Amino acid sequence: NIVHDADGFPRVKLTESGGSSAEVLLYGAQVVSWKNERKEELLFMSRKVIWKPPKAIRGGITVCFPQFGNFGALEQHGFARNRLWSLDSCPSPLPPANNQSTVDLILKSTEEDLKMWPHRFELRLRVSIGAGKLTLIPRVRNTDNKAFTFTFALHNYLSVSDISFICSEVRVEGLETLDYFDSLMQRKRFTEQADAITFEGEVDRVYLSTPTKIAIIDHEKKRTFVLRKEGLPDAVVWNPWDKKAKALPDFGDEDYKTMLCVDSAAIENPVVLKPLEEWKGQQELSNVSSSYCSGQ
Ligand code: BG6
Repeated sequence: NIVHDADGFPRVKLTESGGSSAEVLLYGAQVVSWKNERKEELLFMSRKVIWKPPKAIRGGITVCFPQFGNFGALEQHGFARNRLWSLDSCPSPLPPANNQSTVDLILKSTEEDLKMWPHRFELRLRVSIGAGKLTLIPRVRNTDNKAFTFTFALHNYLSVSDISFICSEVRVEGLETLDYFDSLMQRKRFTEQADAITFEGEVDRVYLSTPTKIAIIDHEKKRTFVLRKEGLPDAVVWNPWDKKAKALPDFGDEDYKTMLCVDSAAIENPVVLKPLEEWKGQQELSNVSSSYCSGQ
């Protein structure tokens, strides 16, 4: 059940019995909306988003493949986000007693893609919503006759309360004491010293080998996102802040105040796939209203 909305982008709408919903575009397999049971949008979407291929959609959840960011010679964040995916006609079976609402999408390498990245692949994404949670399961299959490597990220634009406010209590827990590459410092490696990550300026970091659970706590909205991930050892934290926001044509000048990207990623150690092998990752975003209890 693909629907066409006013922006002209075919999409699949998922709803679950508790009242939460999500929307997934075929373009880029991009999740562009996730609403809780109170119909509050949980993902950020730029006010100046350009709904025009081949521009990637600025917001929601972007699939970055076969390259994260500019960690390689391909276009930024790879090409998968700028391709039209299809419904997957033979997805892997769903687990039993599954009360989730799900869509399976697939992207296969084309002759055009092979000119840029000479490896045949199948990239699948399963998107499911359940009560209070959104699960994404990416899988990459090597359909070529030689091995290849790739980096990967699910680039999550989370909607937060004004992060620029001097007393803002938006913070990220779970990354303390970890090493990170700082993309604002020629990717130099540092060790996180703070107890929790808080924000007072531009941040663009790749935290390495993180725990499987990260919490993004938004005291003002009384909302906590809990990000659980498997097969995606790294985590990217990004906010462009005011100056970079102004330089991005598809990003409102003030938009940086209400977004924070915390991505699930495999960057430091690229994934290696031999012919016919398959890699699988998983991320679950859950949304907990009320203050976060670290014992959860
Ligand atoms: C982040 C990167 O994941 O994505 C940043 O760490 C980058 O370096 C940002 O600027 C946005 O990328 P893009 O290509 O969507 O503008």
